[in-house]
Amino acid sequence: MCGIVGYVGNQPVVDILVDGLKQLEYRGYDSSGIAISDGNDIKIYKAEGKLQNLENVLREHRDEIQTAKMGIGHIRWATHGAATLLNAHPHTCNCGKLALVHNGIIENFKELKVNLEKEGCVFRSQTDTEVVAHLIASIYGKVKDLTEAVRLAAQKLEGAYALCVMHKDYPNTLVVTKRNAPLLVGIGDGEMFAASDVPAIIKHTKRAVYLADNQIAVLKADSLNIINSEGQNIDYKVEILPWEPVALSKMGYKHFMLKEIHEQPDVIRNILVGKLHTTDDPVVLNEVKLTRETLKHLNRIQIIACGTSLHAAMIGKYIIETFCGIAVDVEPSSEYIYRRTVTDENTLVIGVSQSGETADTLTAIKQAKAKGSHILIITNRPDSAMAREADSLIPVSAGIEVSVAATKSYVAQVISFYLLAIYMAEIKDSIDASVLKTMKNELMIIPQKIEQILAHKEVIQKCAREYANTKDFIYIARGINYPTALEGALKLKEISYINATGYPAGELKHGPIAMLDETMPVLSILMHGCVYEKILSNSEEAKARNAKLIALTNSTEKKLDDLFDYIIHVPEVHEYLSPVIAIVPLQLLAYYIAEFLGKDVDQPRNLAKSVTVE
Ligand code: AGP
Repeated sequence: MCGIVGYVGNQPVVDILVDGLKQLEYRGYDSSGIAISDGNDIKIYKAEGKLQNLENVLREHRDEIQTAKMGIGHIRWATHGAATLLNAHPHTCNCGKLALVHNGIIENFKELKVNLEKEGCVFRSQTDTEVVAHLIASIYGKVKDLTEAVRLAAQKLEGAYALCVMHKDYPNTLVVTKRNAPLLVGIGDGEMFAASDVPAIIKHTKRAVYLADNQIAVLKADSLNIINSEGQNIDYKVEILPWEPVALSKMGYKHFMLKEIHEQPDVIRNILVGKLHTTDDPVVLNEVKLTRETLKHLNRIQIIACGTSLHAAMIGKYIIETFCGIAVDVEPSSEYIYRRTVTDENTLVIGVSQSGETADTLTAIKQAKAKGSHILIITNRPDSAMAREADSLIPVSAGIEVSVAATKSYVAQVISFYLLAIYMAEIKDSIDASVLKTMKNELMIIPQKIEQILAHKEVIQKCAREYANTKDFIYIARGINYPTALEGALKLKEISYINATGYPAGELKHGPIAMLDETMPVLSILMHGCVYEKILSNSEEAKARNAKLIALTNSTEKKLDDLFDYIIHVPEVHEYLSPVIAIVPLQLLAYYIAEFLGKDVDQPRNLAKSVTVE
């Protein structure tokens, strides 16, 4: 989703802004722009589409941009108004002296706009953001102080925002503020940065201040001043960012998604370090702060998440209920937040999020926290807003995930749920210890099994070529792999735009079976376990309607050859851990279909990596 970079210092600003935006590019966007100050004037450059287009524009103005040492940059993911040049940020006021960039959504922009138009403001875009530019400029006209104008304007805004503001009258100052959207200030040597996320500035500094909601920071090359919403100066804490300046490199892979799929064995090994020592030792989760007493008496859990994280949560439900005998509800965050939930201090609420910034999940977590629930966050970003709300944390340590379609972070979330379920089961003594020992052993060897799949991708590539031109795809599974069917279908939808749907196999005959004919591929996730024979029967039902049948299976039964048109074999694995194995070929199948169709695999249309608006 949208990204912000700001800079004030002594270096030429344009390269810093463009490079910072490039580091955020993976999040998904459809236009970009920068505003720079050369000490006299503010100049704005924008482009539709990829950053390369902005670079081309900047190249044409090479001579006039070289002296600028302060500026703001933005990549936009359209919410209000199409992805046009006029709607791209930065936005300005009538006189063009003020420029700003914004992430988030201003919910009351229409009301504000009506009043500003009465004052004579002329709007050029359809964005909510332009309202903020006019609003701050209008207040500035009265108070004649940029920081004060930003502070007073912020009080009139409803919704979510991270704002980075510059003004012609302040050639050496950036003013930034935020509410319900991430923003941090990077402190360099004689230079200051603002960014909506760490990768944009990590090359330049590891020292940063995470702004809290409603704080306003005033950045000059050699000073940082932060005030609260009442205008009082506040002390701030400089944190050392737990990041290395990694180049976002594909390491020889054609796409980040393929690289990230291949990283999964090491991601699992990494997450197990320090948590799972031997099959005889209890699982260690140092940042889970639930007391043993609370855990022993815990009888209700709610898990909230979106998209792929929601599918990981569904596996979490299955495994926690099986191992711990605790009732677990799973709900999309966007549904959780607009109803009366039965959540209280006796409920453990688990939020799952790769980014830790997803607006719906963040809001849901805050609501649950306000009701006194213990909040446990499973995230790939221990420095995120969600992690900051957490009473307990499980960092999934998957490393930065660039591809918009989540792969390695999903597997890491699923593994985190196994660890959590085993951890709680050991404390509650809720399942035979031999089951847990088997699980631990399986967890330790599962990376090798994934490596086996990755070493033999030819069958999946062939299957992808065969089915790349289908319009629809059905995935069926039961039990613990039902979420795998949903996730496999989501991956295909996201990157190939093929209409793919996951169903519980037993539901096929209650409606979806009407769609089946010889044009419809049906992929059965047929893993050994309590529902194996049931899925076979459901596959037969599909075959009887002439559907094209594909099996994803760890079975070597001969009879499958007659039933299925295509078989993707995976290594043997315990039923409980089969989702970790089954998802890998589905990720690859989606990848190779999209690649075969020539789609933009890493940055699919309309999608953003981190969805920071509701
Ligand atoms: C995954 O492939 C998607 N890009 C999307 O569904 C994602 O999982 C969802 O937006 C939730 O994001 P989060 O995990 O960062 O909260």
